Amino acid sequence: MAQNGGEHVPAGTWGRVTEQAESTKDRSFDTMLDPWIGCLGLKPIDPAIANHYLPFLKAIDTLQLVPSYFSKDGELNESAAKLRVTDLGSLLDINLINLYAGTRPQLTVLEVGGGYGRLTEAVFNVFGPKQVKYVMIDSVPLSLFYAETYLSNNLPNISVGSYYKGDPFDLEKFDIYIIPTWHFEKLNRYEYDLGVNIESLQEMDQPKVDYYLGLFDKVVKKDGLIYISNSHDYIFKGEWNYPKNWNCLFRDNSPRSWTNDHPAEIFVKDHSVEAPARNRLLQFAHEKHVETFEDLTAKLADLLKKYEELVFEVPNDLLLLRFPTSQLIQVLKNRVRRRFGMKMKQAQLPRLQPNNA
Ligand SMILES: C[S@@+](CC[C@H](N)C(=O)[O-])C[C@H]1O[C@@H](n2cnc3c(N)ncnc32)[C@H](O)[C@@H]1O
Repeated sequence: MAQNGGEHVPAGTWGRVTEQAESTKDRSFDTMLDPWIGCLGLKPIDPAIANHYLPFLKAIDTLQLVPSYFSKDGELNESAAKLRVTDLGSLLDINLINLYAGTRPQLTVLEVGGGYGRLTEAVFNVFGPKQVKYVMIDSVPLSLFYAETYLSNNLPNISVGSYYKGDPFDLEKFDIYIIPTWHFEKLNRYEYDLGVNIESLQEMDQPKVDYYLGLFDKVVKKDGLIYISNSHDYIFKGEWNYPKNWNCLFRDNSPRSWTNDHPAEIFVKDHSVEAPARNRLLQFAHEKHVETFEDLTAKLADLLKKYEELVFEVPNDLLLLRFPTSQLIQVLKNRVRRRFGMKMKQAQLPRLQPNNA
């Protein structure tokens, strides 16, 4: 961690993860996975989760991976027994990538914040080393070390090079190369067909998000693709300043979205002069699905109007309806506050006039 105390220093939580990992006695791969895929990703797949993912997966499954794990009526089969929720995310990522990039004869990938190597492993299992070269950059050394060991163990026929082992950054010699961001900046001489960031920019701040979007813009080829899947309302709630020359091909929440505004997005770089107009329309289409605070307060206002009528028309035999309207509003406000946190400070519930006012 000492090396990267400058502009690339990761959020404080990652320092603590490193300290915990250094002090823990049980260093098996399984016990250490949590920082990269979280408690939700670690869960085994139950029927409810399978049903949540399946319609989307089936719609995009050009790789025909779904029938290997699910029967026709959506039952999990034996080979799915050991899968975790995070693996459904990998089926989703790899199919989305295939839809847009699968036919490219050469796929040189740059992944920022690739964690333990979840997507890298899936990409090599599906596309293979003849088609793919893969560079992973990160600013958390623990992630880089873990990924290097994990991928070397699990992809024995793939050559994995690492900056920390003293390997040269040479994609003729290695199929996968793993390197900290601040060394990548100086040593990279490749252009990429695909830039990827999943569940990682969402934990950063505005300068870092701007930096990585700019980095993709700098090193992804003309006509190259950028695949980004992050929450916009978790830790980082700032601006997503996508370069104007990126044309958005897809933007929508996916089954992975565990917050309200959490799109999977695919862009192509320098492809069309119409990019800004198209991007605006896709942003609008995505926002229509996202229940904003304002949507919710409008719904509450409607509900309260109905309650007002009930308060006056129905005898006071329901506990809730015995509340005076001001208390009822407070109860509902508290519920909204629990759901939307600090946003309550920025907006006011509409003031309602009692029906008999
Ligand atoms: C929650 S994990 C997601 C891992 C992986 N993308 C996946 O979906 O399985 C977040 C990743 O972002 C990395 N990260 C955190 N801060 C970073 C930074 N400032 N620059 C680059 N990577 C960072 C972490 O080391 C980790 O690999």
